[in-house]
Amino acid sequence: MDRVKAEFANAEQLPLVIQPKDGNMKLAEFLELLQENQIFIREHLLKFGGILLRGFPVHQAEDFISVIKGLQLGQFCQYVGGDSPRKIVKEGVYTSTEAPPSIKLPLHNELSYVKHYPSHIYFFCETPPVAKGETILGDARKIYQQIDERVRNQFVEKGLHYISCYPYKSAFMNFVNKSHKSWINVFETEDKEEVERKCRENNIDFTWTRDDWIKIGQKCSSAIAHPQTQEMVWFNQAHHFDFNPKFLGLWNYLGAKLLYLRKHTLLHKVTFADGSKIPRKDLYHVMDVMDKNTIYFPWQRGDVLVLDNILTMHGRATFNGKRRILTAMTS
Ligand SMILES: [Fe+2]
Repeated sequence: MDRVKAEFANAEQLPLVIQPKDGNMKLAEFLELLQENQIFIREHLLKFGGILLRGFPVHQAEDFISVIKGLQLGQFCQYVGGDSPRKIVKEGVYTSTEAPPSIKLPLHNELSYVKHYPSHIYFFCETPPVAKGETILGDARKIYQQIDERVRNQFVEKGLHYISCYPYKSAFMNFVNKSHKSWINVFETEDKEEVERKCRENNIDFTWTRDDWIKIGQKCSSAIAHPQTQEMVWFNQAHHFDFNPKFLGLWNYLGAKLLYLRKHTLLHKVTFADGSKIPRKDLYHVMDVMDKNTIYFPWQRGDVLVLDNILTMHGRATFNGKRRILTAMTS
């Protein structure tokens, strides 16, 4: 590690920033460096939850793929069952969420509501936002500890049931709400049998409803222990699946109420796994704890951010103008 320096960008120590000491490194040399320092990277990821590789020669999606391969933390995985609207850039590489810039996406662990969630998530800054638009970060260990014991116990004991409904084509829904994906996007196929196969493989219950819509449901834990460190983390997206004014803002919330008057078009719903209602005040408490633990991390062009998806949550601040951040996952 004598060719690089490692330091924290903030008091929260997330992420750990690694930069070259001199700016003339070639991509091949950088990949060699990653190879030689795999143990250092793994140990520091497990301790701090996130590493930012800044100032290295990473210019495009292909370089980003090479860096992920060089880190050797796992195999690329698809975004199957994922809810966030995104575009496929290359095999295994997606645009980060295409959700409207005016909505702040609160902290979450990626795909915490599916059986095969990624162990690591990566982001690459192709075009930094002009104003705001940070990828926000939070330590899922601290969030677990800071959630009120009564609320935490109820979530942990009961577990969660996530329900989503997706249309065949999302054109009409997206005319009204740009966040709505079709089931073709969600499962990355037009073949219904393939959709059903992917559902079974991922323990997703499914029902085809009228007008070629699909209703899917998953039962999941609210908190898990990290497989290597055994630390308990808050690991659920109940606060994403409940449409409420605190998450969407009053006007978007009222719009969603109108849009989802018909039950089979309801994008998301979440209850405890036994079907009982999650008190909204408890969800608001969870969101408050997340807000208190949110770290704003500003992008620079060429940055590659590597997160342990279990220890560290991410989200997206609101923004104006252009912003292009690519993402990939491995497990
Ligand atoms: Fe995400």
